[in-house]
Amino acid sequence: MDGKPASEVPVVRVKDKDFSLSIGRKKIASAVRETARSLSHDYEGMNPLFLVVLNGAFMFAADLIREIKIPCELTFTKLSSYSGTDSSGKVRILLGLNEELQGRHVVIVEDIVDTGLSMEFLLEELQAFHPASVRIATFLFKPDAFIKEYQIDYVGIEIPNEFIVGYGLDYDGYGRNLSDIYTLVP
Ligand code: IMP
Ligand code: MG
Repeated sequence: MDGKPASEVPVVRVKDKDFSLSIGRKKIASAVRETARSLSHDYEGMNPLFLVVLNGAFMFAADLIREIKIPCELTFTKLSSYSGTDSSGKVRILLGLNEELQGRHVVIVEDIVDTGLSMEFLLEELQAFHPASVRIATFLFKPDAFIKEYQIDYVGIEIPNEFIVGYGLDYDGYGRNLSDIYTLVP
């Protein structure tokens, strides 16, 4: 982290694994502000509907929305795909989408796009509700893990293909409360 010797980088234990600090809260805050700035500019006069993907994106969404300077609305959906530190590859919708999406400019707010499977699934499900447009705003993106073709419109920070926790992201349910982002120690 920031070129510090490994021995000085803080380590936290989450459940049964060690994670070392990789992205601090200041860097997180400036990436969130930058993303919000782009969205506020691009969606001026469009009354966007932010569709937050629970659980992981709750913290990013809470920070992002407070930096959005234009009229907007917020709604939530919930997907499930991960178990432990590996993607199970199976995606399910656990909290429904509805007709409020029709004719709206929807911005999907995600914590992270990894393989891209969950997002692809959500993009397909959304089509049934006939939104006017759909774009993706993800806080984190792992380009080396991404196996899909679609465009990711807004990315806060690109990260290596490593498992991380904190800032809403969990390891088996734990670690979401951490204000900084930590990477699994191999
Ligand atoms: P994907 O379908 O492989 O793109 O994975 C998407 C979901 O898996 C994300 O929305 C996260 O909830 C979760 N996920 C992916 N990578 C990580 C990680 O490094 N730590 C914690 N959760 C992750
Ligand atoms: Mg997520």
